[in-house]
Amino acid sequence: MSDTETNNTKQSATKIIASTDSLQIELVDKVGTTDNEHLIKISESLAIEYGEKYLLTEKTIDIYFNRDGSLPFIARYRNNIIGYIIGLPIELLSQEPWARLDEHYGKFNTIYTYAFVIKKECKGDGTAKSLKKVYLNWAKKRKGIRFVTGHVKLGISSNFNGNIKIVGQIENWQGTGKTFEYYRRELDPEQIYAPRTEPPLTDRL
Ligand SMILES: CC(C)(COP(=O)(O)OP(=O)(O)OC[C@H]1O[C@@H](n2cnc3c(N)ncnc32)[C@H](O)[C@@H]1OP(=O)(O)O)[C@@H](O)C(=O)NCCC(=O)NCCS
Repeated sequence: MSDTETNNTKQSATKIIASTDSLQIELVDKVGTTDNEHLIKISESLAIEYGEKYLLTEKTIDIYFNRDGSLPFIARYRNNIIGYIIGLPIELLSQEPWARLDEHYGKFNTIYTYAFVIKKECKGDGTAKSLKKVYLNWAKKRKGIRFVTGHVKLGISSNFNGNIKIVGQIENWQGTGKTFEYYRRELDPEQIYAPRTEPPLTDRL
């Protein structure tokens, strides 16, 4: 593991979290201009499916990837970005009515999965699994974070491993004409990463 840091804004500032010979999962601190175009290109498939709002621009890359508190990871195969996943504290989405309606809104304990996308050619090859695993592990260790939520097409979250609840259903999500479900994943049901309490929770009446 090593850090890739530079003052040159052409190159992204990232931290390599996991790597094999050819694949790297990197936590993004700041996206550099050379990576902008790759991210924008990959986001095209999201935009086709969910609407223009999901097509990244330099401005939205700055908002979602470079923002304090966000949890963005990229997958890089032989130096080319092939996918990304972005988590945002739900409180950063205050402009979204559904976010304000989440029962945990305002408790600063929830990361919302804003986008998760892999290049078409890399679907099913394990990259998405690695990206998601790293993302959930980091979310779990972030101070105060207990849940990860997200919108997925109806039925998708029933395939997820872990402690998942479907907490809402939305017809015509983002004008797509499709029904989506809003799921909530409890990250650490056994409270392994929770701060120690005095007395321990298990001993309390
Ligand atoms: C979603 C996507 C990244 C999954 O990639 P994939 O290679 O097809 O993934 P796999 O089927 O191997 O699944 C990998 C993991 O992601 C999970 N997954 C699949 N779709 C998911 C979604 N929409 N949100 C969160 N997790 C998802 C799977 O359950 C699996 O979890 P596991 O590792 O715990 O078993 C990919 O299909 C894609 O880019 N789709 C187009 C964009 C999109 O619709 N994104 C979702 C909304 S933002």
